[in-house]
Amino acid sequence: MFENGELAAARFHEPLIIGVGEKNYFLSSDVLGFIEQTDDAVYINNGNFVLINQAKLQIFDFDGNVIKPEITKVSKEFADVYKGDYAHFTLKEISEQSDTIFRAGESTKEALKEAVDYLRHSKNIYLTGSGTSYNASLVAKYLLAKYAKIKTESIISSELQFSPDLIEPNSILVAISQSGESADVLEAVNIAKKSNCKIISIINSLTSSLARESDIVIGMNCGPEIGVAATKSFTSQLIILYKIIQELNEEIKINFEEISSSISKILEEHNLIKKIASELKEISDIYVLGRGIHYPIAIESALKIKELTYIHAEGIAGGELKHGPLALMDTNVFVIIINPEDSTYQDTLTSAREIKARGAKIIGISDKNSDAYDFWVKIPKTDELTYPISETIPIQLLSYYAALEKETDPDYPRNLAKSVTVK
Ligand code: AGP
Repeated sequence: MFENGELAAARFHEPLIIGVGEKNYFLSSDVLGFIEQTDDAVYINNGNFVLINQAKLQIFDFDGNVIKPEITKVSKEFADVYKGDYAHFTLKEISEQSDTIFRAGESTKEALKEAVDYLRHSKNIYLTGSGTSYNASLVAKYLLAKYAKIKTESIISSELQFSPDLIEPNSILVAISQSGESADVLEAVNIAKKSNCKIISIINSLTSSLARESDIVIGMNCGPEIGVAATKSFTSQLIILYKIIQELNEEIKINFEEISSSISKILEEHNLIKKIASELKEISDIYVLGRGIHYPIAIESALKIKELTYIHAEGIAGGELKHGPLALMDTNVFVIIINPEDSTYQDTLTSAREIKARGAKIIGISDKNSDAYDFWVKIPKTDELTYPISETIPIQLLSYYAALEKETDPDYPRNLAKSVTVK
């Protein structure tokens, strides 16, 4: 800021967005920084400068040429940034999922079809994301292989810079990101573009940097997600993947109404889940075990527990138990067993018994009860393909209520930011 009150700002990779109010301007890296004041935004391009004084906003490129500000209305996308009657945004966002799943991909139906066409015909397909979005990519890898016979490679966005040669030229990169502003994801996209890859992205924020970098954009349309822990965006990502699978394999018919009513039923189990959460207060380690498609969900569940409760948590592939993690099982730990009655059921039940024999407490997430479980969270019976959504909801709720027990802030966990716009 200059002495005369004039303010200068510049964008160098990380996002810079100007909020244009009636009598004032706002500078922020995220629309959420000013959305309660104004929904008129100007997205500044990389390398551009801004000068703001009481009277006007001026934008220049790196050579000093004047750039005309283009105002984007962001009200539609961010219309719902209030907690309402909910104690926290996180609880509100978990509770919205029986509705938000219906909106996933709906505003960009043509883009979804176009993306499917590319996936069908491309030789090499890579999936990328960070955190929860990366976990969604692991589910995608599994689904595409099993139900569409399409082989893909899932890459953690921040890792791509260390092995850019993984990417074959002229391939497809599917980038998944709620915010569309994660620096690691944008960098992965950049690397793939250098190899002439087509970028298909799955994003919640359709005005984000990633949207502008992509050839095809599929919108999650789940409304603003304020809680730092990704909840409804994850299930929207899964729904988009289901829609893609459905397009690729005409034998697959997904009943979205049924998924929504399963979510609603699980959301009614607050009291049971609160009771289990109260048992976790003094626990220092939680393991989450699943096989097949439930393994990425176990990883995502562990991430949710870590973020919201600060309890150490780890996802385990069931078959790996005997290869190491069994040594950790004793009376001090809790293990969440993701075990719906599908092709993974018997093997996972055996793992549960092996763990129980070592004295650990077991929370079974399943449509079928067992004497192996100390606590049983019932989920409705669905098919193998759609279980991941029903099993995610109780673990989100459990993490939320355990956070309340531990008196951490579920919306804004310590040390974390909603959009990680720096590397
Ligand atoms: C999820 O609960 C986390 N807050 C975090 O891992 C997040 O998913 C990650 O930073 C990626 O964010 P993005 O989807 O906005 O790119």
